[in-house]
Amino acid sequence: MSWRNTPRISENVYWVGVKDWNRRIFDALIPLPNGTSYNSYLVLGSETKVLIDTVNPGFEEEWEEKIRKITDLEDIEYIIMNHAEPDHAGAIPYIMKLNQKAKLVTSTRGAKMAQTYYKISENRIMPVQDQQILNLGDKNLRFIEAPMLHWPETMFTYLEGEGVLFPCDFFGSHLAYGLYDDEVEDLLVHAQRYFGEIMMPFRVMAQRAMEKLENLEINTIAPSHGPIHRNPRRILDAYKKWVNGETRKKAILVYVTMWGSTEKMIKPMADALASEGVEISLHNLSVADIGDIARDLVDSKALVLGAPTVLGGMHPLAVYASYLVKALRPPLKFAAVLSSYGWGGGAVKHVQELLGGSKIEVVGALEINGPPTESDIRRVIELGEVLAKKIKE
Ligand code: FEO
Repeated sequence: MSWRNTPRISENVYWVGVKDWNRRIFDALIPLPNGTSYNSYLVLGSETKVLIDTVNPGFEEEWEEKIRKITDLEDIEYIIMNHAEPDHAGAIPYIMKLNQKAKLVTSTRGAKMAQTYYKISENRIMPVQDQQILNLGDKNLRFIEAPMLHWPETMFTYLEGEGVLFPCDFFGSHLAYGLYDDEVEDLLVHAQRYFGEIMMPFRVMAQRAMEKLENLEINTIAPSHGPIHRNPRRILDAYKKWVNGETRKKAILVYVTMWGSTEKMIKPMADALASEGVEISLHNLSVADIGDIARDLVDSKALVLGAPTVLGGMHPLAVYASYLVKALRPPLKFAAVLSSYGWGGGAVKHVQELLGGSKIEVVGALEINGPPTESDIRRVIELGEVLAKKIKE
């Protein structure tokens, strides 16, 4: 029994998720140029049927229809909540109303959140501990605590025997298309973007979670957004680099320009870095997608921030970018600041205040009055050469 719209992804596991092709923003913050999916999975043990994660509110009926193609709702004994955020847990009240016998399985912190967010009564919740087993008859589910990936209650579920890992957001990507990893040619680009947006601030916790996975035989990774990894080695290897903060000889240049002066400094900086063999990515904040910036922060060694002075400080778009850089905690080692001002500076001091407290070494800062002269451009190039040397050390 297998329909394409409820595909069997492992011997006893069905995908019963939904595709949100039209979603364009997440958390009122993250652009979703390719929509997303809310992956939910049905696991059929010989004695016990289990649903893993649910879907975003608004998709309940489509989701229910898919589940009913495979089983009667009343036959589902447990609903696993790996994560309490509404895109995966928002349909829990719906399914638990339709199936009055099912229990909700989640971490101890998740149990509290299920009561607070979804008004699930305590007697319908079964909290589980790290490494606890749930027997399904011929198979076991193992629960693996993975806190702060990216909420405190997050956990993974692992189907022993078939080697399927259900890590919810971890290893995910915001893509509506592609059921499997090998159906999306540039999947790692999307996964890196997702990692930068969601997981990068929690790299230490991610390292701990990865260590817990080391001794598991993993054949399939079934995240709750985007394609399923039936070739798990590729995403595991990429995550190993990202969680450990492995950088490339790469600089990310992020800038805003009002009358073109800051841009006239950024471009020779980009050329200077590139001619020294440094990989560059360049983002003009007035049109940039912050998801792309998050992606490039994952593996960049240096940041160049271009920020004109306006109203005695840096341009508000550069304030926003600096705040994001600090909050996302990328593995940057070095930074340089380029700024132009009309009649009074202030942007450079402002950048230094905002980045203060981070471990990023500010290699140099140039604050230039008006459009840069040829001698100013030479100073930019010299700063670029110093920065390139640091990056290549
Ligand atoms: Fe996809 Fe943290 O929810």
